[in-house]
Amino acid sequence: MEINAKKQRSSFTGKIGFVLAAAGSAVGLGNIWRFPYLAAKYGGGIFLITYIILSVTFGFALMIAEISIGRKTGLSSVGAYKKLNKRFSFIGYLGAIIPVLILPYYSVIGGWVTKYLFAYCSGDAVNAANSNYFSNFIKNPSEPLLWFAVFLGITAIVVLLGVEKGIEKVSKIMMPVLIFISIGIAIYTMFIPGALDGLLYYITPDFSKFSIMTVVAAMGQLFYSMSLAMGIMITYGSYMKKDVSIESSAHQIEIFDTGIAFLAGLMIIPAVFIFSPDKLGNQAGAGLMFETLPSIFQRMPGGTIVGAVFFLLVLFAALTSSISLMETIVSIFQDKFKWNRKFSCLIVILVCIALGLPSSLGHGPWASIKLLGKNFLDFFDFVSNGVLMPIVALFTCIFVGFIIKPKAIEEEVELSGKFKLKRLFNIMIKYVAPICLVLVLLSSVLDAFGIVKI
Ligand code: PHE
Repeated sequence: MEINAKKQRSSFTGKIGFVLAAAGSAVGLGNIWRFPYLAAKYGGGIFLITYIILSVTFGFALMIAEISIGRKTGLSSVGAYKKLNKRFSFIGYLGAIIPVLILPYYSVIGGWVTKYLFAYCSGDAVNAANSNYFSNFIKNPSEPLLWFAVFLGITAIVVLLGVEKGIEKVSKIMMPVLIFISIGIAIYTMFIPGALDGLLYYITPDFSKFSIMTVVAAMGQLFYSMSLAMGIMITYGSYMKKDVSIESSAHQIEIFDTGIAFLAGLMIIPAVFIFSPDKLGNQAGAGLMFETLPSIFQRMPGGTIVGAVFFLLVLFAALTSSISLMETIVSIFQDKFKWNRKFSCLIVILVCIALGLPSSLGHGPWASIKLLGKNFLDFFDFVSNGVLMPIVALFTCIFVGFIIKPKAIEEEVELSGKFKLKRLFNIMIKYVAPICLVLVLLSSVLDAFGIVKI
């Protein structure tokens, strides 16, 4: 076949490009529609503190491990595990399934976000605030598919442009805009009468709500939020130059991810506190983003503009994440089958359409079809994020801790300077993270069967 991959591997031009692209992957819908809900539910400040501690320990260790595996091998996940130890190449394959499962449904949701941005920009904000606007929209068989195609199309264009001219460039524009908007809306919300009480509710620790579930919920959120265990950080690491510091990049990604999640709480919690207190701590996901928030925007001064800017922010967050998902699959195809970028992209788009269709139609004409009692979208989400991700992360820890040994990772990190938190990394990856991951896996399975509620 003439579809040969280029010999020279693409790379980010430098540290900023890498950090912004990786942070773009990390900052996504999870930061905006789930983090504030968890914080409100699990005792505000106490959840924030738990999350930050986990981020700089557990999240840090996994992030370092994945980036280093990628950079050390110069390959995406399938090839990387194989290169390090043939018997463990199954981890790479298992990890490769995850973005294939997530990208289609993530793009369906990305399509909904695009639709809302369009609605806010085209004078439809009043209707969008209507209680059945969202359910009518997702029930429609064709309209959500159109927006899904738009979102997927934008993602594909960026990936087609390549690592430097596509992903890096777009991240360098979208991420600063995203920060700017987050801070802007958070400040704006603070000026609404009553917001201060909402802010106190958000940041004051409520120890009565602290339990082992706080830790488990924070862990599960953290590791999805940091885009770990699906090969993304391995792929992005493989595009990283050897002189860029892995350790300080990991810290910067953590700060980005936690910072935007915190700001999302500042935007959302006081507003919900004032306008829909009954929803506080008991609504996350699509219901929060597409029903409650539009109705809140409608009641707040300047709400149409806030709504438009908010959905632009969500769109950027979702796009940088979907780009990383698509790039990860494309990169695996390029490495494994030696296909070129265009052809790999085309195959990914076709797979994505095939799996995205049921996720979209599952809210309308196919709503009666259930897998494990869930619609297609929730089912794909559960399998990837609730089951496969903790399993892959657990295998990764065992692989790094006991097969290739932490030393192999430490050497890679030390190529660009001293590894300051080497001991922490060592203990985390060998002992603490595996225990945490077993808890995450258990809790998500128990949650899926309605035994506990996260
Ligand atoms: N980290 C993203 C978020 O917080 C989620 C994500 C999942 C991103 C999968 C990419 C891939 O929403």
